[in-house]
Amino acid sequence: MTDVRPAGVDLPGAAVHPRPHADDPFDAALLMLEGRRNVSRREFIKGVIASGVAVSGATYFGAACTGLAPAPLGGGVERLISLNVNGQVRRVDVLPGETLAMTLRYKLGLTGTKLGCDRGECGACTVLIDDVAQYSCSTLTHRVRGQEITTVEGLETPSGELHPVQQAFIDELGPQCGFCTPGQVMSAVALLKANPDPTREEARAAMAGNLCRCGAYDHYLNGIMRAAREA
Ligand code: FES
Ligand code: FES
Repeated sequence: MTDVRPAGVDLPGAAVHPRPHADDPFDAALLMLEGRRNVSRREFIKGVIASGVAVSGATYFGAACTGLAPAPLGGGVERLISLNVNGQVRRVDVLPGETLAMTLRYKLGLTGTKLGCDRGECGACTVLIDDVAQYSCSTLTHRVRGQEITTVEGLETPSGELHPVQQAFIDELGPQCGFCTPGQVMSAVALLKANPDPTREEARAAMAGNLCRCGAYDHYLNGIMRAAREA
């Protein structure tokens, strides 16, 4: 490799910085910036870190040299999308790697969906996608375009009447602290849609993905059996 500028004076004991080389993409871009924009290596590195590792050097330098904004992340993924949530079509700006839980809570204001573990272990974030219970913390929002999403806010009737599962959970004293309750409700609703008359063991198995730190499992099971009986 060939040095493209004269060597500096290396002092004994000083940190040695490799000299830039024109055939190294990183250094070539740096040299280009130093020549054209008088941007130092320190400023360059600061900029890369602030922009995130996902930004390619080419994009960064191209923008820096031309003064244009960097190309959007995500390789052409459309960000402004339509979602069918609780029977309404909602337009929302979604990042390429955004989870449905984040979109629901922080873009659409549907905070009934809880985030507990945020890694598919607790069930607090359970919603219905085409009537099937799913962890929204482990579902990419872009993957549910065109599907029907139901959150706990979408269960009550327009007149404010609770869903039979919600009422049965109240009657059976299911919620203790209440944090897991929306997820428990959504899983129970999905169960009763698929199996309106479950045995207690079937219900227990269907609810296995919803943890309750207050230990109210039997109360929730009683609620499911009550809702099934009264439906
Ligand atoms: S927050 Fe999604 S499974 Fe725990
Ligand atoms: S009611 Fe408190 S975590 Fe379930």
